Parts: sequence; C-alpha cells; structure tokens
Amino acid sequence: MKKLTVKEAYALLTDGLEEPLKIQYVTHCLHVGDLAALIADGLGLDAEYAQTLGYLHDVGRRIDPANHAYAGYVFLKEKGLDDYAAICLTHSFLNNDVGCTCGVPLPEDCLGYGTIKSFVETHTNTDYDRIIQTCDLLCTSDGAVPLNERLRDIESRKGRHAGSDRHRAAAQAQLRAFEERLGHPVSDFYGKIR
Ligand SMILES: [Fe+2]
Repeated sequence: MKKLTVKEAYALLTDGLEEPLKIQYVTHCLHVGDLAALIADGLGLDAEYAQTLGYLHDVGRRIDPANHAYAGYVFLKEKGLDDYAAICLTHSFLNNDVGCTCGVPLPEDCLGYGTIKSFVETHTNTDYDRIIQTCDLLCTSDGAVPLNERLRDIESRKGRHAGSDRHRAAAQAQLRAFEERLGHPVSDFYGKIR
C-alpha cells in the first residue's frame, strides 16, 4: 500500500486553490484529519495514516461538490491511491448501510450510485474508517463540537429521513466505543486541534 505523508495529502487537497484556508470544506477536512490523528494515536494506531485519510475524505468537493464521494473516489483511484479512495465512499455511511447516513440519503440516480452502494455494503470497515466517520460527525469547518450539536446542524441544513434515528444511534454508539477504548471523552482532544 502506498502511504502518503501529511504534506502530500494536504497538497492533494489544496494544490491550485486560492486561499485554501478560507474554504470551508478544506478546513473541515483538516479538522477531521487532525482529530483523527489524536484518536488513532490514543488507540495505538497509525496517526499519520488517520490524519491523511481525514484530509482526503472530502477531496471530491474540489472536483464535483454534488457528487463529492464518487468524484473523490475516482480522483484518488486514478492516482493509484486505492486505500485513500475508499474513505471517500465509506465516510458518510455507518455500519455498511447506505441508508445509515446523516441528512439526505444517497439519491439512487446520483453519479456512481451502484459503485458506492456495493462498495459500502461489502467493504470491511477498519478502525480507520470508523475514526473518520466519527470525526466527520464531530468536526465543522470551524473545529470540533459535541456530536449532537453537529448532527442537529447537519439535519437542520439537509433534512431528516427514514434512517436518521438509526444513524443517530449508530453514531452515538460508535463514539462511545472509541471513548471506552480511549478511557476518556474524545472532546478532551478538542483543544489540541487548530
Ligand atoms: Fe466530511
């Protein structure tokens, strides 16, 4: 597996963008990656890998915002970065379930729907996938917030659907599981991210 450095992942996310730190999805990705690194380190995992996955999970927003998951997947696959491409598809769906997502469910007529659905349903989620899923649900473009605040925020902007309650419960359970392994709340890390 080709591993990226944090600098390389940052470059893939920001190269060619004017004032990247003023772009909301960029700062969101940086917060997700930085928090993911702290959680991974606390669990004895590879912090740099977690950080780079976080930096790249929404990279597709720079290519095709409306289809960002699939666009990011294709972009990274074309670069031979299959292990990073996967996070673009898996980060929004908990428990291998495309219906277990926050906000709008994936429209069946969206670009790459079949690929996304079959990938998500058959992918073996690792701790890294789950860390990025959790950090994505904790980090806004301004920093990290309590889980329920972020869920409320996404739902108020994007709406609720049949799977919203299932998603909330899964997100809470996943966060609790990490906190039990860490031995402390993930929010203890919030002061350490930019
Ligand atoms: Fe995200």
